[in-house]
Amino acid sequence: MADEPLVLGIETSCDETGVGIVRGTTLLADAVASSVNDHARFGGVVPEIASRAHLEAMVPTIQRALDTAGVKASDLDGIAVTAGPGLAGALLVGVSAAKAYAWALDKPLYGVNHLASHICVDQLEHGRLPSPTMALLVSGGHSSLLLSEDITSDVRPLGATIDDAAGEAFDKVARVLGLGFPGGPVVDRTAREGDRKAIAFPRGLTGPKDPEYDFSFSGLKTAVARWVEARRRAGEEVPVADVAASFQEAVTDVLTRKAVKACKDNGVDHLMIGGGVAANSRLREMAQQRCDKAGIRLRVPRPGLCTDNGAMVAALGSEMVWRDRAPSSFDLSADSSLPVTEVHVPHTDLHGQAYRALGGQA
Ligand code: KG4
Ligand code: ZN
Repeated sequence: MADEPLVLGIETSCDETGVGIVRGTTLLADAVASSVNDHARFGGVVPEIASRAHLEAMVPTIQRALDTAGVKASDLDGIAVTAGPGLAGALLVGVSAAKAYAWALDKPLYGVNHLASHICVDQLEHGRLPSPTMALLVSGGHSSLLLSEDITSDVRPLGATIDDAAGEAFDKVARVLGLGFPGGPVVDRTAREGDRKAIAFPRGLTGPKDPEYDFSFSGLKTAVARWVEARRRAGEEVPVADVAASFQEAVTDVLTRKAVKACKDNGVDHLMIGGGVAANSRLREMAQQRCDKAGIRLRVPRPGLCTDNGAMVAALGSEMVWRDRAPSSFDLSADSSLPVTEVHVPHTDLHGQAYRALGGQA
């Protein structure tokens, strides 16, 4: 294990300042400083507040991670950082910090994709990802079905949401029900007390002519809002737990149905589920049942590793070093809309010059 790459990962794409340290596929530290409470009264993440919070939390969080892992910064084999997608200002704080540490310590820098990191984090719990792996990525900003042969270089999108992301739908429905922000965890908890068959909410894009692997949650969100509004207008009490459970059932039904179909159609027998919504208890339960029935091996990281964290970035960075991928250049920039297919910012000539100037082997 000692000769496996020791990598520090920095994640600042949204409201979590995450710093993880990984050796090979072993998690040594996962330090997170969240500004989620600073955003709660606005009902969503305020980019400027998130950026400032990252700036304040960055150095102490890195120090905490190094202390927890019991390693020195000089022992690291690389520094990985989320280069996108995410909030531009928030990403910039992480990218700048990663460059500063990499430069000062004379270590290679790896700018990586947030979405591929959400997939790669599962290696910390279940070992290296098989090739190919189907990934259902469900978060506050994304809902995608991705097929990957090699998580460091090849992520192919099969389908994605055409409107709201799954997590966004959870957040909006929570707001309609007056449950607060972020919506996912509280809807999940509230739904446990409810009847998931109480209301038949629509399953978006599941008709025979609809795209097989795309998702749509906007109609569902509107249907929930209309249903609740009608009860309120009639002066009736809203059965909050039943609405939460029925909404959650509609989301998880569509997600798992399409993910299992994508596996079967493509002859893939491993399904990985990642992103914040993968922390959802009903999604995990239904996915397990449907995968068992279809003979598919399901891999879902523990809930703490599904939401944004630095360990996932370190996991992908470590895999980059392990597979001898070229580091990023020091002109690496944050890309708020980095495509999912760009797993890491590729080697460039400019990089060669910058990295060689630091005494590394470009
Ligand atoms: O991956 P993530 O931490 O950040 C993004 O990259 O977006 O995902 C955050 C999203 C939020 O929309 C949150 O409501 C949702 O994940 N989420 C959940 C649960 N925990 C977090 N959704 C459903 N059930 C949960 N238990
Ligand atoms: Zn995320």
